Amino acid sequence: MNSTLAIEPSVFYFGTPVALLTTAKAGDETANITPISSAWALGDTYVLGLSNGGKAMRNLRDNGELVINLPDARLWESIERIADTTGVADVPAPKRDKYRFEPDKWTLGGFTPRPSGIVGPPRIAECPVQMEARVTNLTPLDEEGDATIVHAKVLRTHVHQALAVPGTSYVDVDAWKPMYYTFRHYFAQGERVGVNFRAER
Ligand SMILES: Cc1cc2nc3c(=O)[nH]c(=O)nc-3n(C[C@H](O)[C@H](O)[C@H](O)COP(=O)(O)O)c2cc1C
Repeated sequence: MNSTLAIEPSVFYFGTPVALLTTAKAGDETANITPISSAWALGDTYVLGLSNGGKAMRNLRDNGELVINLPDARLWESIERIADTTGVADVPAPKRDKYRFEPDKWTLGGFTPRPSGIVGPPRIAECPVQMEARVTNLTPLDEEGDATIVHAKVLRTHVHQALAVPGTSYVDVDAWKPMYYTFRHYFAQGERVGVNFRAER
């Protein structure tokens, strides 16, 4: 038997995929980009964990429209270039020592906007997966009121051609390489170790 040790981690970032949310208020010249990793999906609903002090949450409360863009590992440096910024002009006090306001994260990170078909915020052309989505539910994460659990229904999914299996809606799992965030380090996907009995191909 493996013996264990009780530890008290300050965060529980054991490893989740990185996503870049694009959001915008009506009339905004430039949409905002928010790197997150608290994201998972059940059916066609994504569940996101978002800090209330961020621009993404403000924009989502305004109109509920977003694109969930999934980068691959090649984009980690672009993401890190925007990581210490916020789209909130009056940077919230708890973030002021580490973050600064940036109205155009696209230029800073070297990202290219591509118009969406259904929602207002643009997609990020460099991300291999881009999901247009709309908020269906907002729930406070805890009593402190620091964060919100966002439910967002995926309305349309775009993938780079290299990921698409021609003539189907399947994603080529050999071509798609998600990036994971583990205790604030970026990781590429490792090798396949097995296949589930329900895998479709
Ligand atoms: C890889 C990565 C993952 C992150 N995950 C989350 C997350 O899941 N939820 C969250 O609220 N903030 C997360 N953050 C922090 C936000 O990106 C940060 O607070 C940023 O300033 C928010 O930008 P905005 O205010 O323009 O929306 C993450 C940052 C990085 C770099």
